[in-house]
Amino acid sequence: MSPDPVRSNRRLGLLISGRGSNLQALIDAIADGRLDATIAVVISNRANSAGLERARAAGIETLCLSHRAFSTREDYDRALVKELQARDVGLVCLAGFMRLVGAPMIEAFPNRILNIHPSLLPAFPGLEAQRQAVEHGVQVSGVTVHLVTADLDDGPIVVQRAVPVVAGDTAESLAARILEEEHRAYPDAVQLILDGGWRVEGRRFVSAKSPTSAST
Ligand code: GRF
Repeated sequence: MSPDPVRSNRRLGLLISGRGSNLQALIDAIADGRLDATIAVVISNRANSAGLERARAAGIETLCLSHRAFSTREDYDRALVKELQARDVGLVCLAGFMRLVGAPMIEAFPNRILNIHPSLLPAFPGLEAQRQAVEHGVQVSGVTVHLVTADLDDGPIVVQRAVPVVAGDTAESLAARILEEEHRAYPDAVQLILDGGWRVEGRRFVSAKSPTSAST
């Protein structure tokens, strides 16, 4: 297996747009020793993100980089890359970042960008995944943490956890149940990535620690 560049660098760059509860879950997991990593910087594209306050309260450097200040998506991505590389970030974690990341980011951090999505992908990609799940009438939904590729919510699946849909669920009640599982799944996925010993085969994430590839 080729040397894993992520293994030696446990510095995370978090990209957020809002509430930041997944950011908080990563902060808490690091603080209580479940996740061996450092958050080097939290970048939000919105100045009023509650997540920025959470990061400041934890003593983490924050940056607001508004996409509105850039004329193209590529220019914005290049600015993100510059800020992340300036802080020697080894793994980028999208945590409610409401922007598509494009080629400059993916080329600078190949297989080193994670995203968390509130459904069992490939079901219900895109916005309002929990509402899509309730409206579709599925009986099980959940959370997916995946590597980010150029296609929306489509990269190799690192961790998936199922969450039941129950009678009377609304998009909001299902979202709250899934969110609890998100807060466990994201630190676990980040730890799995940082521990190395995994590879991507086609569109599959293969790790001895993954349930689907335990025998490889
Ligand atoms: C989460 O549901 C996450 O799965 C999705 O956006 C939401 C972000 O929530 N990508 P928070 O900002 O982490 O609280």
